[in-house]
Amino acid sequence: AALKKYQFDIQVANVSRLCHAKSMVIVNGRFPGPTIYAREGDRVQINVTNHVQYNMSIHWHGLKQYRNGWADGPAYITQCPIKTGNSYVYDFNVTGQRGTLWWHAHILWLRATVYGAVVILPSQGTPFPFPQPDREEVLVLGEWWNADVELVENQGNALGLPPNMSDAHTINGKPGPLFPCSEKYTFAMEVEKGKTYLLRIVNAALNDELFFIIANHTLTVVEIDAVYTKPFSTDAILIAPGQTTNVLVSANQIPGRYFMAARPFMDAPVPVDNKTATAIFQYKGIPESVLPKLPNLPAPNDTEFALSYDKKLRSLNSPKYPANVPLNVDRNLFYTIGLGINACPTCVNGTRFTASLNNISFVMPHTALLQAHYFDIKGVYTTDFPDKPPTPFNYTGAPLTANLRTTQGTRLSKIAFSSTVELVIQDTNLLTVESHPFHLHGYNFFVVGTGIGNFDLKKDPAKYNLIDPPERNTVGVPTGGWTAIRFRADNPGVWFFHCHLELHTGWGLKTAFVVEDGPGSDHHKTGICTAKSRFLGGKQPEPRVSRKQP
Ligand code: C2O
Repeated sequence: AALKKYQFDIQVANVSRLCHAKSMVIVNGRFPGPTIYAREGDRVQINVTNHVQYNMSIHWHGLKQYRNGWADGPAYITQCPIKTGNSYVYDFNVTGQRGTLWWHAHILWLRATVYGAVVILPSQGTPFPFPQPDREEVLVLGEWWNADVELVENQGNALGLPPNMSDAHTINGKPGPLFPCSEKYTFAMEVEKGKTYLLRIVNAALNDELFFIIANHTLTVVEIDAVYTKPFSTDAILIAPGQTTNVLVSANQIPGRYFMAARPFMDAPVPVDNKTATAIFQYKGIPESVLPKLPNLPAPNDTEFALSYDKKLRSLNSPKYPANVPLNVDRNLFYTIGLGINACPTCVNGTRFTASLNNISFVMPHTALLQAHYFDIKGVYTTDFPDKPPTPFNYTGAPLTANLRTTQGTRLSKIAFSSTVELVIQDTNLLTVESHPFHLHGYNFFVVGTGIGNFDLKKDPAKYNLIDPPERNTVGVPTGGWTAIRFRADNPGVWFFHCHLELHTGWGLKTAFVVEDGPGSDHHKTGICTAKSRFLGGKQPEPRVSRKQP
């Protein structure tokens, strides 16, 4: 095991795409930001220095951070944000995980431009459980706004207006030649006939689920969210914001130039698809004048493809990589996803959108929750988040008026150490055009079941997959449907749980779990982290009540 050190300088730089130049927040002058490389078992230290006017924090999405919540990163959840001119060291061990994950800003909408990949190689001498690729490539899918994303966020949140959608999708920061002024902003991956490549694909988009495809080439899925899967072949993959997927692809076609493409998936009619990003799968020696072959993408509303794709995902569940699915459940939770409109005196039209779990729109605290938990600071949050919605109703069938009014609060659910939890997340009848990708910090979970319509306690649990369900950290709850997840709460701390569509997160579609510490430890105070691991290098201030976001 090695110690890997990184320095992240958060700066403003000029970036142009789509004939628009703008100054935006990026890391080390690069967009997307640098890839973090480590091996399973390594210790990683990233010193993040904030040189911009915004408060900052970085989340290591999918890293389990066992008993190490102070390094998780979501602002006001596990830490005070890093103020302008300050630094913070994220210090963590990469234990029991290998694969592709990613990192992103976890404050405001800054993750639109502040993101990058995390590659965890298997420990030295451990092969992949699939054919060894000749080479690997990281492909980070993202979104580009011509406007300043903080203005867009403000429009959607503070002003209560429908926010602008992005202007293009990107592959490694580049929209590709279907967009104006984008010839030179096209990512190309050079391949050699007969070789096999491992693609590490990350969906860093703010608000869009994506199909990804390479014209004429078959993809073999081998890993999702840094967990090995039973390999299967497909023409396209579907990937929600927050998720990662590793695929093998063989350069076995007539040498040429082929498009790789990322197109949004919307399972409701969408006017036009004008955001598809493309990059080039470029066989060595083929001149750039040869026109790429266009892929045959699934339609933007190909729900059938989406559902059947998700059904193919299975944990590898081999002797070396077993799927330890909890078979008994200590605690049953049932959360409904709702969307509503609340009064907002300061908004342009006097109202704004809200989103809720069990009719509660989460209110961000001004003191980090983990800090309040650790130091017993009262009045920051309550632990009375309900285990089920106040009034059950026909979630997916009733008219819109049947939805309950949302209430507001910083309400968390307290979970006993090492207990097993089943959480059913139920969408409601509100109009959404894509699934809600729910992300749990500090854990992977097993997706034991999913379905369309209302969850049926009498029938659905009997159909659960408790053998080899996909294990992941972000799962799409289908539009008008439900998803059941299970996990063992063996990682004490305060862990954020939210929709990874930034628009919905901002509207309140989030909560957190307080997982208590085990018996024999001193209250909940020990074991979560040590004073030393909290603040390395003496550069950071002691945790304290943070000021409001600017
Ligand atoms: Cu990738 Cu809390 O997020």
